[in-house]
Amino acid sequence: MHVAVSEKLTSLQVMQDAPVIPVIVLNDVKHAVPMAKALVAGGIRMLEITLRTSVALECMRVIANEVPGAVVGAGTVRSAADAKAAADAGARFAVSPGYTSAVGKACRDLGLSLLPGVATGSEIMMAQEDGYNELKFFPAMQAGGPNLLKAWGGPFTDVKFCPTGGVSPENASQLLALSNVVCVGGSWLTPSDLMAKGDWAKITELAKQAAAFSR
Ligand code: 3PG
Repeated sequence: MHVAVSEKLTSLQVMQDAPVIPVIVLNDVKHAVPMAKALVAGGIRMLEITLRTSVALECMRVIANEVPGAVVGAGTVRSAADAKAAADAGARFAVSPGYTSAVGKACRDLGLSLLPGVATGSEIMMAQEDGYNELKFFPAMQAGGPNLLKAWGGPFTDVKFCPTGGVSPENASQLLALSNVVCVGGSWLTPSDLMAKGDWAKITELAKQAAAFSR
């Protein structure tokens, strides 16, 4: 799929681009550009940079400016202020660990596509009330994994999920085989030790493996 740089993304485009959305924790701005280039070289370009470190926004800015093949997303978006800061830093999509209407409204006002986090039927219904049918299931493996996704397939036939949390190369295929799963999220593509060592080739290799998962 080709998404033009200026095009407004839909949540489904974010989810369909590759089988895995990397959940990235950056502690050093110097790692941002080589990390993003390494993932893009491996075929992964929807990058969820979590708002968990003091340098996260600066990392988004440099990736958005210097890695044209990457699409910057913000993870751990928990408030309207987080969404605004992320959009200002160049994020084009947002991922939240839970869902509030305030976060949904902020993202719509900012033109950010949002993958709202849900873990219960009530949360799915609240997100759907606000128009969201493509959702992050978090924390996926801790909260019920494939069995819960299969159960949700009954009542929530119109919802697609990105399970995230406890997902690994070992269990990703089982999740991706489910009809209501479009992609998965996980942190294994960008381990902190590889980034600290600057082993970008290994990150490209992990990205290639992830991009090759069938779904
Ligand atoms: C997170 O929020 O940290 C993500 O869900 C990633 O979880 P993981 O480290 O289990 O992949």
